[in-house]
Amino acid sequence: MFKKGLVLLFMMIFLFALVACGGEDSAEKTGGTDDVTDDAPAEETESEEESSGDGGTVEIFSWWTGAGEEDGLLALIDLFEEKHPDIEVENAAVAGGAGTNAKAVLAARMQGNDPPSTFQVHGGAELNESWVAADMMEPLNDFYEEYDLMDKFPQELIDLVSKDGNIYSVPVNIHRGNVMFYNKAVFEEHGIEEPTTLDEFVEVLGQLQDAGVTPLALGDKEAWTATQIFENLLLATLGPDDYRALWSGEVGFDDDRVREAAEYFEKILGYVNEDHASRNWQDASQLVGEGEAAMTNMGDWAKGYFSNDLELETNVDFGYFPFPGTTEDFMVITDTFGLPKGIENPDTVKEFLNVLASVEGQDAFNPLKGSIPARVDADPSKYDEYGTDTMEDFQNSNLAPSLAHGSAASEGFLTKANQEVNIFVTQKNIDQFIKKLQAVAGDL
Ligand code: GAL
Repeated sequence: MFKKGLVLLFMMIFLFALVACGGEDSAEKTGGTDDVTDDAPAEETESEEESSGDGGTVEIFSWWTGAGEEDGLLALIDLFEEKHPDIEVENAAVAGGAGTNAKAVLAARMQGNDPPSTFQVHGGAELNESWVAADMMEPLNDFYEEYDLMDKFPQELIDLVSKDGNIYSVPVNIHRGNVMFYNKAVFEEHGIEEPTTLDEFVEVLGQLQDAGVTPLALGDKEAWTATQIFENLLLATLGPDDYRALWSGEVGFDDDRVREAAEYFEKILGYVNEDHASRNWQDASQLVGEGEAAMTNMGDWAKGYFSNDLELETNVDFGYFPFPGTTEDFMVITDTFGLPKGIENPDTVKEFLNVLASVEGQDAFNPLKGSIPARVDADPSKYDEYGTDTMEDFQNSNLAPSLAHGSAASEGFLTKANQEVNIFVTQKNIDQFIKKLQAVAGDL
């Protein structure tokens, strides 16, 4: 009870902090490419009062709106509606990459005993240390047994969605966070080879800068995109084992290799587009797609954006390579959906989870999303070369949990880390940055 109370208190503080310091401009921050299709679902979420009490409605809460985000979800919803024409779907998506705004809306709804039927949540700390720890999720062990799912997901994913022997959500995908996407024509024109080490990376950035090209596209209007670069640098300097140990507290932020990551971070930030603070991830990826910048570090939802929105061809228009220094590693991001306690029609919601968990569901969603299927028995022929390469890499790499996308550490730590990264991007004060990270490490 005490723990539950603490978690609830934390969530309220988290929500309050978000609303107090980011709430107002988060409405503006949904600008850029995201705006195109966002308005209706976002408004609906805020004003929606009625609950789906008749057993005939499933409300799906996520942050998948707009370019590069929603195609996969819409395909999954279409498939579900085809199979269950009698069940109504409410797409309650709230714009903002990495859940920048959605997580606050979700926290408010959970606090107000108004949970959506099911919601997007990253496997790892975001699921387990928030909603499961607060006793707000139903265990899904019986669901996994009933639908014969126990051996259909890699054990690493099952572990990420489990706590104390119970399974609490169903993974729909595996995204990779340590990917560099680049414009093939720009690399070719300037004779650039894919860098594999951090030093080669810095060298290539310099070469491109000298040639008058924007070397690295960044859109950190939402701070997580810069946090993602920093976590990849930490993975590169610490290696996968000590990168994990950083989040469990066994390696401290005063470690020399954390400083080394911050030093590389500072260098790399010297090569980004000047207007990075006013762009979101789609706007930054667009610079690469259109040849105005050479490359960008983004999770492979950018692959979905390149293919479906910009209509670029894999390995023709754009190429990809692992974030330098992390060639053997795979930064795992998994989007999952569970069953909140207290909803009125759990059996109906399980029908949706069943479609999402099925081979057919995963193969409808993932080729559009840029992710690979979470299921081990999905059909590789549904994916292009990026997808099949990534499936192979997932099998053969060291897996590492993402901080920026909720797996590695608590929401409390992530919120503060994002703030410190944001300050670092403008001030570039390494000592201060490390001190601040040490200071907030208590929230891990
Ligand atoms: C991640 C999420 C991805 C993608 C991305 C950008 O947190 O796992 O599916 O949506 O944010 O919004």
